[in-house]
Amino acid sequence: MAFGLFKKKTEEATEKSSTRTGYVTLKVKEVVNETADAISIHFEQPETGDVTYKSGQFFTVIAQINGKEERRAYSLCTSPFVDKNPAVTVKRVAGGLMSNHLGDNLEAGQSLELMEPIGNFTTEFNENNKRHIVLFGGGSGITPLMSITKSALNQEPNSKVSLIYANRDTQSIIFKSTLEEMEAANADRFKVIHVLEQKPSDLNCDEGYLTEAIIGKALKDLPQFGAENTEYFMCGPGPMMDIVTESLNNLGIDKSRVFKESFTSSTDTKSEENAIDSDEIIAREVTIIYDDEEYKYTVEPDETILEKGLDEDIDLPFSCQSGLCTACRGRCVSGKVKMDEVEGLSEAEIDEGYVLPCVSHPLTDDVKIEIG
Ligand SMILES: Cc1cc2nc3c(=O)[nH]c(=O)nc-3n(C[C@H](O)[C@H](O)[C@H](O)COP(=O)(O)OP(=O)(O)OC[C@H]3O[C@@H](n4cnc5c(N)ncnc54)[C@H](O)[C@@H]3O)c2cc1C
Ligand code: FES
Repeated sequence: MAFGLFKKKTEEATEKSSTRTGYVTLKVKEVVNETADAISIHFEQPETGDVTYKSGQFFTVIAQINGKEERRAYSLCTSPFVDKNPAVTVKRVAGGLMSNHLGDNLEAGQSLELMEPIGNFTTEFNENNKRHIVLFGGGSGITPLMSITKSALNQEPNSKVSLIYANRDTQSIIFKSTLEEMEAANADRFKVIHVLEQKPSDLNCDEGYLTEAIIGKALKDLPQFGAENTEYFMCGPGPMMDIVTESLNNLGIDKSRVFKESFTSSTDTKSEENAIDSDEIIAREVTIIYDDEEYKYTVEPDETILEKGLDEDIDLPFSCQSGLCTACRGRCVSGKVKMDEVEGLSEAEIDEGYVLPCVSHPLTDDVKIEIG
């Protein structure tokens, strides 16, 4: 990894980002090894005023790696109600650019350029709420769930939280000791059920992958199971999310009470519009309205609307570039687009005309998208 270049470019980016709306440069206060392949990055709050966020939202980390700007989304694992300093937890992905770059190179005292927190995987907290929040996590998917747990326990004295947390083995459980402390401190309100592929002798847990049978059994043992005031949040690998979704569906849980955050795209969520004849995707001009400016450019069939905008040096917002995070979200006010992936948007957003330019291609000659 070209770390020298990373530092120099980061300094340049720092100057640029300090003037860009929606971006912030934060100093790393501490890097904590959570497991053999996961670190938590704790940031200092800037002197100009605290970074604000909602539990479940994510930062976008921007770094120069091998001479190219890379961006990746990382959910905050901290709670705005409990923790003074915001933090994210990054788990290494085999061969992954950013996760290994951060794991190998990042130290306290360095600065990172970030897009300010955004994201819809969140909930409003209210001290009068009396609900049961059921969380399904897998591996690094614990991060936004940790934030939601901390906030719920802190803000809602009458609510309960249950976490069903799937991992490979004991060593790979991120936040294991913190979760134990939280359980001990909130004995009647917080319960963790571990599911491990390799069951150790010293931990009471289910063995194997998360299955419909394990999910069904765990839920039936939980307080207020199935009650109207129960909400379900899930974040983890695609296959885990699929089995949880199917299980909740089979148990008759209404979709309106199920909330999901995906870190990677799943083939299940590829848009049905993929069925559109590829002949319809031809080079077409689009109009983008962003930051009170109007831009017109032609998108070729093998490009997305975001890709071409970035090639044109337009400073459009983006993060995952996979249609998951909504950082690039805009409203299509005229014309029609084809989206390769629809995971990030709710049905209501799609009905309101929202699109994700990072996975969109123009289908008509009059596409106009307002971003921001
Ligand atoms: C909204 C959102 C929030 C996220 N929050 C977190 C978080 O809190 N902590 C965290 O560690 N990650 C999180 N991610 C994932 C993160 O953004 C990166 O995708 C991940 O770190 C891999 O990036 P990379 O550059 O190392 O790998 P890349 O170089 O981008 O990818 C290398 C290969 O790994 C595959 N891959 C990418 N991500 C994963 C993954 N998560 N698991 C398995 N394979 C993968 C890719 O398909 C590719 O084949 C989040 C993603 C999104 C969209
Ligand atoms: S950049 Fe993440 S949805 Fe488009």
